[in-house]
Order: sequence, then structure tokens, then C-alpha cells
Amino acid sequence: MLESALRCGVNLDFGCSNGSCGQCKVKILRGQVKQSRHSDYVLSEQELQDQLVLACCVSAESDLLVAAREAGHVDQVQIQSINAKVACIEISDDIAIIHLRTARSTPLRFLAGQYLNVAFSNELDQCFAIASCPCDGSHLRIHAARYPQTPAVAHIFSSLKKNTAVKLRGPVGKFTLHEVSCRPLVFIAAGVGFAPIASLIEHAISLEWSQAIYLLRLCGKAETPYLSNYCRSWQDALDNFTYQKIDALPSGRILQKAELPDTEADYYVALPSAIQSRLRQELLEAGIQQERIKVDDEGVYRSQCHAGKQPE
Ligand code: FES
Repeated sequence: MLESALRCGVNLDFGCSNGSCGQCKVKILRGQVKQSRHSDYVLSEQELQDQLVLACCVSAESDLLVAAREAGHVDQVQIQSINAKVACIEISDDIAIIHLRTARSTPLRFLAGQYLNVAFSNELDQCFAIASCPCDGSHLRIHAARYPQTPAVAHIFSSLKKNTAVKLRGPVGKFTLHEVSCRPLVFIAAGVGFAPIASLIEHAISLEWSQAIYLLRLCGKAETPYLSNYCRSWQDALDNFTYQKIDALPSGRILQKAELPDTEADYYVALPSAIQSRLRQELLEAGIQQERIKVDDEGVYRSQCHAGKQPE
């Protein structure tokens, strides 16, 4: 039940995911379940009478109506330390996409748009945005740009190998979706700012949100953003999704007002810090309310991620 819920974008509260901690208790209001995995955690007589079950240890035998705790806010997701392996590295031009795999019994619990510290050794670690959907916490993706070349990034591009063991610590960060909003969504990204945006979009898709979703990727005139085909595949598959590449001008306005798809939308912006504040100003001048503009404050997350704390 827990796996199915997460796959559908429902952030059920859970801890160990293997029947030991009791954190995933849900109340069955209607329908039948069967025990599908052994649990060491013992439910009390009262909890059994109240139809409580451990979501990580049961499967549905019919349609279900359940009462459950959901984690909708970053404060409800604890920092975890998890071992993982590099499952695959794809390097193209100046971008590396690293696939990380945890044991099935220890998925990372996070909200779309959050960050993670990846330690390649005792001395070599860096904070990265998680680029994958929280619906699968065992298969994580991060994106690294070749420049600026930090020691960890140099290691990724020069010598990181498949099956290397890494230590993960996180998540941190508050660049997450307003889950209660029904407004259209506009995502604006440049460079590896696409990583947290990809996670947010995959999460919105897994929730089957029906409002219009726009993705604008800023990039040099003659360039194609990395994973552009992936973005086009979203557009091909979804009626409510629009993908557009925007030529980023070296100076002057970043976006013309006519390029903004919807001034009533929620805006999620992940750009290099040098242009992020400029774009924020442009959005405000275009009449978009301040509380509808969410920016990825990457610098803050990086420092807090290393310390394993949530940003203030
Ligand atoms: S998550 Fe720990 S018992 Fe289910």
C-alpha cells in the first residue's frame, strides 16, 4: 500500500518501510487488505480493533478508503543518512546525470524540489538538487554541470564509476510545490536549475494534476537545453503540458511580458543567482503577486545541506 501511494504522488508518512518503526500506520475505513510482508512492529490490541495496519506491510485486496497521515511540509520529513550506489552515469557535453540506487528497504524520503548531500568519500561531498520524483525514493537522479568545477564535480566527470558506494544525507530545502493550489504552474529553469524543476514536474504529473503546466527553459541562442527530448516527451504525452525553449539574452530583459504564459499562475524559478533576482523583479513588474513566485535558493540549500539542517 505504501509503495502504491508513493507511486501515485501521495506522501504517506513512513519511516523504515520494512515493518519495524510503526510510522506508516493507517486506518482502514473501507475495504480489505492482506498482510504481504512480515513486520517486527507489534500493533496493540486497541490499534487492531481500530482497524490500523502498517501501510508498508499490507496489500489491497479491494478498493480502499483509508485515513492516513501525509507529509505535506518539509518539517515533516526528517533528515536521513542512507547508503547508496551509483547505478549509472550519463555524461554529455558539460552535464552529467547520475543515477543513484538505495536498497529497496531504505528509500530516501523527500519532497519534490529538495536537495541532498552526496559524499563520494570522507573528504569529497557536495549538495545536489534531487532531479527525480519522490514517488520512487530508491532510484534517485542528480544532475551536475561541469562548471564551476568543484572537487566533487571534477571527480564526477573524471573518475566516478558505476557501482561506487556513496553516502546520502538529506533532504533539505523548501523549493516544493504548493499542493493546495489549483492555479496553472509555470516552471522556469536554466542550466542544472532544471534538476529540481524536473522533480517538481514529475511529482505534479504523478499526482495527475489537470491544470495547465508550462516549462520555459532559458538557454543560449544556438544551444539546446540538455534533456530537451525528455521535456518534449512530456509535451507529447500530456494535453496540459507546454514546453518552450527561450533564448536567453546576455543583458536586458530575460523574459518579455508576452512570453509569460499566464500571469495568474504559480511561478517556480530555478536560475543562476546572477539572473534569478532580475527575473523575479520582471515577474513582479508584470503583475505577478509576490507570494506566487517561488525561487530555488540554491546557495542557501547548499550550505545548509552540508550541515544537514533545514534552511530558516
Ligand atoms: S514505515 Fe516503518 S513500519 Fe512501515
